[in-house]
Amino acid sequence: MRIRPLAAAVGTFLGFSSLFLPTTAAQAADHPHRPVVVAHRGASAYAPENTLAAVDKADDLGITWVENDVQRTKDGALVVIHDTDLKRTTNVEQVFPDRAPWKVSDFTLEEIRQLDAGSWFSSAYAGARVPTLQDYLERVSAHRQKLLLEIKAPELYPGIELQTLLELRRSGWLDHHHVHRKLIIQSFSADSVQTVHKLRPDVKTGFLGTPDVGDLGKYAEYVDQINPSHKTVTPQYIAALHQLRGAHGRQLEAYTWTVNDGPTAARLKGYGVDGIITNTPDVVRDATAGSASNHSSFVGASAS
Ligand code: G3P
Ligand code: CA
Repeated sequence: MRIRPLAAAVGTFLGFSSLFLPTTAAQAADHPHRPVVVAHRGASAYAPENTLAAVDKADDLGITWVENDVQRTKDGALVVIHDTDLKRTTNVEQVFPDRAPWKVSDFTLEEIRQLDAGSWFSSAYAGARVPTLQDYLERVSAHRQKLLLEIKAPELYPGIELQTLLELRRSGWLDHHHVHRKLIIQSFSADSVQTVHKLRPDVKTGFLGTPDVGDLGKYAEYVDQINPSHKTVTPQYIAALHQLRGAHGRQLEAYTWTVNDGPTAARLKGYGVDGIITNTPDVVRDATAGSASNHSSFVGASAS
């Protein structure tokens, strides 16, 4: 692997000094046959998505991996929220009635801090806030959890990849331990993922989507994961994906989303997926528990 000159310069700025760090077992799935369970937007079936409460709830359930969505405010702060507007998950329409269409990028951090990001979900969570990425990382660290960080709608936020990496570094998430055990960065934007890979080639990355099998090799040059909607996954697709090696030389992985029921989770485990991203991580964990995998039987049955 080579770092291009510009990326190398920025890499130096980010504190990245090694051209290539060998992949450890920890960069692969936590278990070869038991999918990694990732709490989608935190344990978002039980607490308001992308809040610290959702991270806490995942921790309460004993879930190590959490997923989030990162965007940027008008004044340049990184915040954790899924939609590109604030309407669905905050009371922004009440607090700022004249500010339609209430885009995240039209509000300052100070304004967003005033919003209630919990009441829409349940009165029990009234007063929950849209966290900054910094606050979010502190909480995930406090729980010793791991993070699947999604850069959301990067086309709206030029430079968000570098900014996110800088925040990760500032928060201690780009040291060897975090990079090799605790962090994956993903996006629906292939360009964005490629940018992350160029800036920090050691960081594990994923592309959200289901590229044609014939195109997977191109993605594998800069990602370690292809993370498809579970509705698009077949045993053949997972088997084809597993034939390839990702950016760090290990078998390409698939973390699939968003799976909230046990039977579907068990079926996808049988397909051989490496991770399942879910709003109900306790349900998926229970449905996929046990070391036995019927991966080969699914593949064999479909091939015959
Ligand atoms: O991590 C997968 C999933 O989060 C992708 O979809 O829309 O929930 O961000 P979305
Ligand atoms: Ca997401």
